[in-house]
Amino acid sequence: MLGIKYPIIGAPMFLVSYEELTIAVSEAGGLGMFPLPNYRTLDDLKKALGEIRQRTDKPIGVNIHLSGKFPWQDQLTACLDAGVNFFITSLGDPRLIIDDVHKSGGKVFADVVSLKHGLRARDNGVDGLVAVGVSAGGHGGVIPTLILVPYLLKETGLPVVAAGGISTGEQMAAAMCLGACGVITGTRLVATHEAVAKKEYKQAIIESGPHDIVCTDRLTGNRSSWIAKSIKGIESGPDLKSKKWTEMWSAGQSVAQINEILPAGEIIREMAVDCQKTLKKTAEHYNNLL
Ligand SMILES: Cc1cc2nc3c(=O)[nH]c(=O)nc-3n(C[C@H](O)[C@H](O)[C@H](O)COP(=O)(O)O)c2cc1C
Repeated sequence: MLGIKYPIIGAPMFLVSYEELTIAVSEAGGLGMFPLPNYRTLDDLKKALGEIRQRTDKPIGVNIHLSGKFPWQDQLTACLDAGVNFFITSLGDPRLIIDDVHKSGGKVFADVVSLKHGLRARDNGVDGLVAVGVSAGGHGGVIPTLILVPYLLKETGLPVVAAGGISTGEQMAAAMCLGACGVITGTRLVATHEAVAKKEYKQAIIESGPHDIVCTDRLTGNRSSWIAKSIKGIESGPDLKSKKWTEMWSAGQSVAQINEILPAGEIIREMAVDCQKTLKKTAEHYNNLL
């Protein structure tokens, strides 16, 4: 559907995924993405797209916010001009962009955390859904990925990308067995050389276990997951433009599987290879049982 080698999407991450991470993921055979709010001005966005396009001709994607807080029309034009062919919408009506994206051969998926969201997105004409499970970094829902993916597949009939709790090839294999058409990995990519994150943040991802992650709606108004010690004493989220966001470290429970800071490309390739090995080993195991 997207012309990528491996069905692995590098999650768009606020204040974390910029040009370097996007290029590294796409060059490794996945789909590199970034969220448009990472660039404060249209010029900054155009510069970043120019830089990416100079260094890779592979497919890339963006997360576009359609709530009205951002100049999405100009952002969309800049992205389409740069050949962006995959859009994940969050907040707002995907119908605003679908025709233009389709005209240029791209696809629009919507982040959803429930069946209600999934059905609404389907009625609005999206090409597929991103099922964001409870254990995801950033904003997640309350339903485990293991339940949400097959639920959305069955009830909406749309292609579903699995998000939340996927940091390894084994976890990816589990998602593919559920029928997901691909996976998104976010938390894993924070601990990479290319992520724009403080050393302390990357180190905290490595040192944390699932019990160090708290999920709260007090910071953004929606449920989001954080490394507990980074939001201690913070009662509400700062203004979107505040530097304080870089002191607050979002991560999901799959910190459990992250032990090393690595180049992003290595992670994508290893995930793809391990996924294939796991599927093969599991098939052999069951063939022997039956
Ligand atoms: C630090 C961080 C920032 C994120 N920011 C965004 C964002 O700006 N837009 C978005 O659609 N998702 C965002 N997410 C969610 C990811 O796109 C993705 O759905 C999630 O990370 C997948 O779960 P995982 O972290 O368990 O891999 C963010 C996640 C993290 C960890």
